[in-house]
Parts: sequence; structure tokens; C-alpha cells
Amino acid sequence: MTDLAPPHRRPLPMLDLSAPIGVAGPPAAPVSGDVRLDEYRPEARALPRFFVWTLGCQMNRSDSEEMAGRLLAAGCQPASDLETADLVVINTCAIREQAEQKVIGRQGQLRRLKDTNPSLRVVLTGCSVRESDRAGLGKRYPAVDLFLRPDEEPELVDRLGLASAQAAIGQTGGLTGGLTGRIGATTVVGRTTVGVADRLAGTRAVAVAGGVVARGSAISAWLPIVYGCDKTCTYCIVPFSRGPERSRPFDEIVTEARALAAAGYREITLLGQNVNSYGHDLAPEPRFGHVATERWAGRRLDLGSRPDLAELIRAIDGLRTADGAPAIPRLRFVTSHPWDLSDRLIAAMAECPSVCEHLHLPVQSGDDAVLRRMGRQYTIEHYLERLARIREAVPEIAISTDVIVGFCGETEAQFEATLRLLERVRYDQVFAAAYSPRPGTPASRLPDDVPATDKRRRLNALLALQEAIGHERNRAWLGRQIEVLVDAVTPARSHDHDVAPGEGSAAAPSAGSVRLSGRTRHHKLVHLAGEPSLVGRLAKIRVDHAGPYALRGSLVAS
Ligand code: SAH
Ligand code: SF4
Ligand code: F3S
Repeated sequence: MTDLAPPHRRPLPMLDLSAPIGVAGPPAAPVSGDVRLDEYRPEARALPRFFVWTLGCQMNRSDSEEMAGRLLAAGCQPASDLETADLVVINTCAIREQAEQKVIGRQGQLRRLKDTNPSLRVVLTGCSVRESDRAGLGKRYPAVDLFLRPDEEPELVDRLGLASAQAAIGQTGGLTGGLTGRIGATTVVGRTTVGVADRLAGTRAVAVAGGVVARGSAISAWLPIVYGCDKTCTYCIVPFSRGPERSRPFDEIVTEARALAAAGYREITLLGQNVNSYGHDLAPEPRFGHVATERWAGRRLDLGSRPDLAELIRAIDGLRTADGAPAIPRLRFVTSHPWDLSDRLIAAMAECPSVCEHLHLPVQSGDDAVLRRMGRQYTIEHYLERLARIREAVPEIAISTDVIVGFCGETEAQFEATLRLLERVRYDQVFAAAYSPRPGTPASRLPDDVPATDKRRRLNALLALQEAIGHERNRAWLGRQIEVLVDAVTPARSHDHDVAPGEGSAAAPSAGSVRLSGRTRHHKLVHLAGEPSLVGRLAKIRVDHAGPYALRGSLVAS
């Protein structure tokens, strides 16, 4: 970082507009003196170099791609790191206290950077920005100039006063267009109204059509299909941060998928906090008349004649190349709530060749009483019934899950029930975390009574058990030939620790080849050696080694 702000870079204005968007004009032009001198003046508006720091889940990563794209379209250049940026956009995660602390702990550094670069502006968005908590934000994040809720992210460029730069390329109206059709739905959790107007569902298509999504990969793409969450899991901050469920219109999603296929993408992951409830909030249409009401547990909704996830994946799978192969060879979706995992979806997964043989189905706990306290709305019996059905329909499907240990009141016996569940299901992968109380959630009113040491011990025990199970699941692939979508050239060191002791170490790549990694359709991470030109291609490999977290394979001639 240089000591002084470059003189040509003016501080960014911060327009703290509340609404409506698009009424803010550009910042006042420099006072003009003698017009004959105009061509000798520095550029009227120098644009900031930006850095987007993304924490959290795939939804945040997808949102960041959109924000970065909007900034690029406004003419801004990316900075290589936070230290050299004039605009830092922090896309936060609030799922656990630790995630929030990461950003709170950077406030001092950001302050110091601002001292050396007075034109530096910091925008904080993502799940830590909640309307109910606006007042506290400034205190917690003193280095931040502008807070945007996740649903306000499409306004980023306007709020920074950069819209005039876009206007020059004729996109301002288009980029933020669609805001007028905002949805004012609400979610109520307990007695708290959580929902706020949200515009993402309406603005995404405009951003996509304008080519304003800076995708991080040219191989695999995120495709958001439903924003927000209507579930009321008592421990979870997401409904408070992201508001009620809003499904994107069916045809807009299929259009985005078609464009991704045309651009050469090999994999699409449909995104939503609960993709299984996609479509329930859309208007019924005659063309979806065959979609019958189907809700497996809990409150019944009239879902008839509305598109659902099954319909959507069939439509995307139905995009075919001239020779009849799926135009997108790999289709995935996250996250599925067990409550809404319908037979229609299971059938679509089994029948659509592009849908990958992997399902992430968070269970959270193996004990019904804990699940009840968590507000998960299913029992272990229901969960296992759904799992049996999907395993029957899609043999060898890989299953991953999320688990919370040490939730309020979790006894040793209840924790043991979770271990037994892991032994019974034999997951391919488990994402586990210790319960972290989130202010404002219903569970924050329950005593957080499992001591930190017990939480840690339970977490370690669970991870150790799963490591053995995962290793065994991976060993089942030894000697088999499988398809890998190669997606990266990897630095040498990241290979070796993925291979278990006694499983052999990473083979050094031969001349002309490098270390590569990719994923199988079952979402297994695979390391291999090969030409860099394999990146982005589907390669056939034979599995030579299996560790608990990754496979190692060698290319076979196809
Ligand atoms: N919508 C998804 C994912 C939500 S967040 C779902 O329903 O599963 C991802 C995971 O974070 C959750 O599945 C849960 O396991 C974990 N999580 C959420 N809130 C948490 C909290 N307060 N403490 C610890 N883990 C939490
Ligand atoms: Fe949170 Fe539950 Fe919604 Fe997942 S389904 S985002 S855990 S409230
Ligand atoms: Fe975190 Fe928000 Fe995702 S809380 S996990 S970034 S939905």
C-alpha cells in the first residue's frame, strides 16, 4: 500500500439512500472553469479498484459474483487484494459467531488502511446485515461506510454513486431495472417479523441478460433459484438475514441455464437455502397442471399447478446438444431440506441423466427430541424413509449432511444417537459444527447449557467416527473407472495430505503433465496428473488410492 492516496482517485461518495433506487444522480461534476482546458483535466471520475471478500456459503459466493460483475460493468477494476483496493466489499456470513468474529477482528486493519488511503471505502453486506439490527452495526463494524442487506446488493453501484459510469455504456437502467416489481412478503419466526422487501428474485435475470455476473469459474456455475428461507429452524439466523423465500421465475432460470450451456459450462449447481421448496410462491399456470400437491410433513401448502424443483431439473436436463446429450452434463442442487424431498424430485433425479448422483441432505441431529427443539419438523424415521427411497431410486448415490453438536439441552445419550445415525447411514461426507447461539433466533432464548469443552469433545468424536466411515466409503471406489470433471491445476502440497498413510503418496507428474484436481459425479475430490489442457474437460480415470477426504487416480485412455 502506498503512503498517500493516488491523487487522481477521488473518495467515493456514499449515498445513504433508503429508497427508491435509481433516483440518486451522479456526484456533482467538478466545477468547470475555462472549457478550453477540459481536455487537459484528469478524468472527471476516477473509478475505484475493488476487492470483494466473501465468507460463508455458495449463495454468498454467487452473490459476490454478481456484485463483482456490477462493479466491473461500471468500469471499476479489480484489486488483487484488500490492501491495494479503494473499495472493499465484505460479503459476510453470520451462521456462527466465529464467522462474524473474522470480520469484526479486521476492523482495526481496515481503519489503518483508511488512514493511509483516505479514498478507501468499505461496504459490508451479506448475512450480518439485518434490518432489525441496523443500529448496532456501526458500533460492531466501525470501519464500514455503507451497510447493505443481502437483498440490497443489486443497489451497490447506485449507492456508491457509480451509476453514471454505467450510464456511459448504457446499462444503468437495465442493471437495477426490475426493482419496481419488488416483493413485500414477510416471514414470521415466533412473534418476530423477519421478512423485508427483497429484490434479488427480480433483478438477477436483468443482471444475467446484461452479462453482468463475473463468474469465478468457466467450468462450473452457481445458479440461484430461490432466495431466503421460510423454515424456522430455531438455531438459524438465515431467515432473519435473508428474509422469506422468493422463487425466481421458471423460464428465467432455464434461460440462464441455456446461456451457461452455450458458454461452455459443464456443471451447474442450483442454489437455495431450501431448493426443495422452489416454486411454491409462484403463480399457478396451466402448463404445470400435472404438478400435484405434495408436502411430506408439517404445514400443507397448495402446491398444485406450480413448478417445483423436479420440473425445473427436468427442464434443464432437457436442454440437449445436437446429438441428444445433456447440454449441461452435470446438474447439482443445494440445499435440500428433508421435509420437502418429494417423490417427484426423487423420480426426476433418477430419470435425468445430467443430475449427479449426490445429495446433500442435512440431518442436524440423530435424536428426535433434539430435532423437535431445533424446529426441524421431521423425525429420524421420516429422514431414513426418504433416504431409503432415494438410495433405491439412485443406487450408489453419495449422501452428505450437516450436523450440529451440543445444541441446547443435548444430553450425552442424544449425542450418541447422532453417532449411531452416522454409523447407520454411512455418509460420504459430514459437515459438523458446535452449536453457536445466534442473537435474535428462537434458540437464543434457550439456555446454551452444553459446556464448550463437551461441545469440542463431541465434535472431535463425531469427526473421528466420520473420518473412518468416509475412508471406507472412498475405498469402495478403488480400482474402478470413473468420470472426473477436471477443474483445477493444484499446487503440489495440497495433494499429499489427502492420501491416507499407507495408501501411497502422490505420484510426481511426468514431463508435460501437472497435478490436477476435479470432482466425480458423486462429488468426490480426485487428484490426478495430466496435461493442463484437461482443465474443463471430463476425463476418465482409474482410482488408485483412496483417502478419507479424497481419491487419487490415473487417466485411462477413452
Ligand atoms: N439451508 C441449509 C443450510 C443452512 S446453514 C439447511 O437447511 O441445511 C448451513 C449449516 O450451518 C446448517 O445446516 C447447520 O448445520 C449449520 N448451522 C446453522 N446455524 C448454526 C448455529 N447457530 N450453530 C452451529 N451451526 C449452525
Ligand atoms: Fe436455516 Fe433451517 Fe432455513 Fe436451513 S432450512 S437456512 S437451517 S432455517
Ligand atoms: Fe452464512 Fe448466510 Fe450462507 S449466514 S452460510 S452466508 S446464508
